[in-house]
Amino acid sequence: MTNGQSTAQTRVFSGVQPTGKLHLGNYLGALKKFVALQHQHECLFCIVDLHAITVPQEKGQLADNTREIAAAFLAAGIDPDKAVIFVQSTVPAHAELAWIFNCTAKMGWLERMTQFKDKAGKDKERASVGLFAYPVLQAADILAYKATHVPVGDDQKQHLELSRDIAERFNREYDAPKFFPQPEPLIQGPGARIMSLKDGTVKMSKSDPSDLSRINMDDTPEKIAKKFKKARTDPDGVPASTEELLGRDGARNLIGIYAGLAEISQQQVLDQFAGQGWGVFKPALADLAVAKLTPIAENFTRYQNDPAELDRILSVGTQKAAAISAPIIAEVRDIVGFWKN
Ligand code: TYM
Repeated sequence: MTNGQSTAQTRVFSGVQPTGKLHLGNYLGALKKFVALQHQHECLFCIVDLHAITVPQEKGQLADNTREIAAAFLAAGIDPDKAVIFVQSTVPAHAELAWIFNCTAKMGWLERMTQFKDKAGKDKERASVGLFAYPVLQAADILAYKATHVPVGDDQKQHLELSRDIAERFNREYDAPKFFPQPEPLIQGPGARIMSLKDGTVKMSKSDPSDLSRINMDDTPEKIAKKFKKARTDPDGVPASTEELLGRDGARNLIGIYAGLAEISQQQVLDQFAGQGWGVFKPALADLAVAKLTPIAENFTRYQNDPAELDRILSVGTQKAAAISAPIIAEVRDIVGFWKN
């Protein structure tokens, strides 16, 4: 890790919303990093259902969607004996600390959050208070465990900056220097910003109405090949240097996806394909994606077919997460100065 902290001092936390199928952006920006980190650090990976209800959810779907993310975590290679996998709403520390942080964070800080503006759309008045306070809950998720590192995609950068501001303000406000750490985002790498296959200027997203814009984690090999074939590029072929990708959003996105999946740098991808047309590159990319994603899709189906095992793993996760956060929340209560029962 960048700051050279030893394993003993680091704690990794990240969250994923149970709001539909995961896509290649979630995998390269988050899950793949989770899998790598679990071998060296204490890790907590949380399914953030309290965040999901900041916008209306389909009736009766939340529990199934939660299991689906648990299955995706396991299928991607997260080992429940190494990392804690759990559901946010089952550990009350998140909601409790979020309230305390609601009283530390400033309206102005939240008004600057671009994701709220995007999600609330034109009619801000009708957005839930929860959607506005969403990043405060995110700060509580991280800091209820005094997590030091947070692997996320680039779209979470602003929320992570807010978490750092809240930690710092709380420490100052309550005269508790260094009580909360400054959590460090782990964003770098070619997978941090995977864009839509149809428009290289917007991120790949679950909410894009066009299924052709994204590779879903359970797409068939035929679908994957078709989507890459139709992906937006430009008339020029694969260039020789990363500078030549500037302003070529679709092309840069495909090179980035290849680099993320193959775990090599963008320059190494260019070295391999420079001068080739997209007619050569796209099938190679599809083959690589199929080779990497098919085993995960198969595991995913296996876990999905065993909800009792998923529930067992999540229950163990709840206990482990609660045991870590309980003493931290007890200290927070002391610091704030609440009456003690
Ligand atoms: P969510 O559920 O939208 O996305 C889960 C993770 O996937 C990453 N991601 C992407 N990465 C690269 N390219 C993309 N196109 C792309 N789309 C999504 C996200 O950055 C994220 O890492 N607010 C968070 C969930 C959250 C959280 C937390 C994260 C709640 N509490 C505490 C970290 C720590 C979110 O909505 O992620």
